Amino acid sequence: MTEQSSQQWCDAASVEAIPEDDVIGVEVDGKDLALYRVDGQVYATDNICTHGHARLCDGFLEGHEIECPLHQGKFDIRDGRAMCAPLTVDVRTYPIRIEGGRVFVAL
Ligand code: FES
Repeated sequence: MTEQSSQQWCDAASVEAIPEDDVIGVEVDGKDLALYRVDGQVYATDNICTHGHARLCDGFLEGHEIECPLHQGKFDIRDGRAMCAPLTVDVRTYPIRIEGGRVFVAL
């Protein structure tokens, strides 16, 4: 988080647009991102699975784990860690901040 000054904060969605314990897909500055809300906290990751061309927003969120809809690989949305086969590559995560009920993502 030390290089934040070089990051670009982009308005991604309203907090209210993300249902609690759920995930939505948004396009921000040409990037396909997944936004999650768990226990009132918002998280952002790339929306495309690192294993194949599946959108994580179409997957199943349980706690802080998103299950890919295609082969059921799971990522931890807090750090992007690939948690099980067939995944071998972590998914990218993005810092977020909330301002005025909007979610801003650092790209
Ligand atoms: Fe996501 Fe295969 S495409 S686990």
